[in-house]
Amino acid sequence: MAVPVGGFLGAQLVPYGRDHDNPPVRTSAPWPSAEVEELAVAACYDCHTNETDWPWYSNVAPMSWLVQRDVDRGRDELNWSEGDDDFHDAAEAIENGDMPPTQYTLNHPEARLSRDAKDALIAALEAMDEGAEAEEEAAEEAEEAAEDADEQEPEDDDSSGRGRGRGRGGSNSGPG
Ligand code: HEC
Repeated sequence: MAVPVGGFLGAQLVPYGRDHDNPPVRTSAPWPSAEVEELAVAACYDCHTNETDWPWYSNVAPMSWLVQRDVDRGRDELNWSEGDDDFHDAAEAIENGDMPPTQYTLNHPEARLSRDAKDALIAALEAMDEGAEAEEEAAEEAEEAAEDADEQEPEDDDSSGRGRGRGRGGSNSGPG
């Protein structure tokens, strides 16, 4: 009896999609609470961090190719493990219903976000976005202050002694 598995077995030989080492996690997003972090882990982490939980079927072609492609493209767009901090975009993607992808929620029921869960996640992301902006501003100000301090230093040193004699030899009222 012929079993039509030749193509299936052949597909397993394609190396793409089998390399499931997660790159090192450099940093993580500053979630304000464990509850919100849990929501993000369930709905976003597989594709937007280096903490991907590879499902068993991610080792079986052709699912492996689809999963690998999603993760590669997702990490390219946004990777919280690499310090991406455009949290406002993420909030919008949730609000618009773009993320998590519907296809993903079919296999991952825990990634389906209720209205309350969406609101909590969006509020957290917007707060984190403001935090990230404030941090950038503070860093800029600190840099400017450091530059100002650099510029002032030589002037301060210079003023000792030399400036005092100014006007002595320069007056026109000398004997002439
Ligand atoms: C199954 C994998 C997967 C999951 C889970 C997932 N994403 Fe994505 N995400 C992608 C891919 C692939 C792209 C790039 C292509 C695209 O936009 O469809 C993307 C793009 C994005 C972008 C940038 C482009 C855009 O659409 O605004 C943001 C922001 C984003 N995702 C946020 C999230 C958030 C927040 C979650 C969780 C609520 C999430 N994603 C869950 C795969 C995923």
